[in-house]
Amino acid sequence: MPEATFHFPRGFVWGTSTSSHQVEGNNTNNQWWRWETMGRTNGTSGLACDWWGGRWREDFDRAMEGGQTAHRLSVEWSRIQPEPDRWDEEAIERYRLMLRGLTDRRMTAMITLHHFTDPIWLTEQGGWESDAVAEKFERFVRKTVEALKEYCTLWCTINEPNIYALVGYAYGAFPPGVVDPPRAMRVQANMLRAHARAYRAIHEIQREARVGYALAFRPLTARNPWSLLDRWVRGRLHEGLNLAFPSAISTGTMSTPLGRTPIPEAKGTQDYLGINYYTSQLISFKLSERALLYARTDFPPGAELSANGFLANVPEGFYKTLNWAVDTYPNLPILVTENGVEDADDRMRPRYLAQHIHQLWRAVNFNWPIKAYFHWSLVDNFEWERGWSQRFGLWALDVETQRRTKRPSADLYAEICRENGLSSKMVEKYCPEIFKKMFPG
Ligand code: FCB
Repeated sequence: MPEATFHFPRGFVWGTSTSSHQVEGNNTNNQWWRWETMGRTNGTSGLACDWWGGRWREDFDRAMEGGQTAHRLSVEWSRIQPEPDRWDEEAIERYRLMLRGLTDRRMTAMITLHHFTDPIWLTEQGGWESDAVAEKFERFVRKTVEALKEYCTLWCTINEPNIYALVGYAYGAFPPGVVDPPRAMRVQANMLRAHARAYRAIHEIQREARVGYALAFRPLTARNPWSLLDRWVRGRLHEGLNLAFPSAISTGTMSTPLGRTPIPEAKGTQDYLGINYYTSQLISFKLSERALLYARTDFPPGAELSANGFLANVPEGFYKTLNWAVDTYPNLPILVTENGVEDADDRMRPRYLAQHIHQLWRAVNFNWPIKAYFHWSLVDNFEWERGWSQRFGLWALDVETQRRTKRPSADLYAEICRENGLSSKMVEKYCPEIFKKMFPG
């Protein structure tokens, strides 16, 4: 058997990602909890992974022992600011403790300041549709960054603003369950204004801060390249889903298929681009799909689907995504802030992981400035409206007992982190079925 290793540059950062609502548990003061109690999710978050009860300690140990040198986590706005005029110092202290926990384990912290959840009071004041939200977000960000800056210099203002806006306000599966594309665009515009304010505020507080956001990017291809309608609708979805945020950050005007909105303060407000990549899709025109701007989405025929058919394994799409990022922002550092697959049996994850790391390596070898990879996720956690039906963890979680069980992918990822690369031996051991394809020589 030939032997080879896809090496990464020295100092490449390997980690995992989580978010507050998905792992903390007993998180009852935000709009997602409400959504859960309305029966809109598959089960409720409940105790989740019990990080609020202290189980972050054992999970951080697992991450450290698995060779990870960084962790991306989020803080919960509704805990830090439970009411408009009250800060919860005890909650802040708990986050400080968690962050110290990372430092003690020699792991770098990346903090996301907004990951899908809003305090109930904010929702009652109109949430992200209200023009007053940007100022409120800035206030929360200032307080939080002041309190946590000792432990973190890498900040992600908003996770997947495009998904928050489109799934909550056009597709309707996230709260508030609205199906009205123009409202989704208004939400994205307010998220841009809030991001821009947060970007400046963080730099004011911390000179060495690196600030960006995490974009969910999904390569979209016209199902029938000869069809004018398929091409047209593909272009619109690409613009509305993938490009709205980047367009405003590049030019100061948010461009969407529904119109242009000047947001001059957003121009240039990123020190890196965070990319969340999971899958790719084919797009065709369908009149009944008003919510998705008349786009019907399918996975490429023949592509391998995840356990619940939620995503397809399309590693080349990861490469395409990184290629788009570097073309759009030459020389801007790129961080892969999420990538992973739902797979309770860990049947597909080892090859999904190996194939995506391989594509990442290809990209890195063009000297594209990709600095980090965060796998989603460290341990199974509460997957939003899909609840506990989807398992993204390197470690399995028994929700009843809180017991964690290591999946083979955790060992594969640990070997990748320690080696700072992916070797043919690893592929042979964890996913021999793709060996020939990956190492044809
Ligand atoms: C992303 C979210 C993350 C998780 C993964 C599977 O869209 O940012 O919280 O749900 O999908």
